[in-house]
Amino acid sequence: GTAHRIPGYTYGEPQVEHSPVTIAELDALKETLLWTDSDDQALRMAGDVLTDQVGDVVAIWYDYVAAHPHLVAYFGPPGGAPDSEYLERVRARFEQWILDTCRRPYNDVWLDYQQEIALRHTRAKKDQTDHVDAVDRVPLRHIIAFIYPITATIRPFLSAKGHGEEDVERMYQAWFKAVTLQVALWSRPYAREGDW
Ligand code: HEM
Repeated sequence: GTAHRIPGYTYGEPQVEHSPVTIAELDALKETLLWTDSDDQALRMAGDVLTDQVGDVVAIWYDYVAAHPHLVAYFGPPGGAPDSEYLERVRARFEQWILDTCRRPYNDVWLDYQQEIALRHTRAKKDQTDHVDAVDRVPLRHIIAFIYPITATIRPFLSAKGHGEEDVERMYQAWFKAVTLQVALWSRPYAREGDW
């Protein structure tokens, strides 16, 4: 667990609604991703490797978002400047998400928070957690495309602690699968009823 309270981070808290996704649906997605026990182990290893680097990782992602006006636009009101307080509050949850991706068991509680993160990108819940006045949704296409930078940029951090090439590759593949899995889950509220 975390020693400090992160504003807006409600993992495992009773106010988080239950996910409509079943464990059977989750298992099927993992099977599609060729998920094995080795991926679980590799993610645990990645958690140890990344734990003191999450600030640097998210700094890279934030620089990347800041450098692209069509992305940073979602952190401010329509046509307005990015809200730096909003960015900072989300940053802390983003850092925690890296560790959750590596260390949390992918069970019902995890599925519930996946649904919560999904909704926080949509019209249903965006901006509410931080009580901000910003564009009210992140379009799904940007979330899907973001899989690539979120994956490609993690590699140098995975190799920063002296692990061999084989371990780095295993951690990298497991990370890629874990991010793809989550984006597959996050796509649910964007899909028309019955189409997910
Ligand atoms: C929130 C991850 C794509 C904009 C978050 C959070 C995480 C996250 C972990 C915080 C969740 C929490 O509240 O605990 C990701 C990942 C993505 C992705 C892994 C794709 C692979 C995007 C894209 C944008 C974006 C493309 C657009 C620039 C935001 C915004 C919030 C947020 C504005 C705050 C939402 C709110 O108001 O609560 N994201 N994100 N995200 N993300 Fe993303």
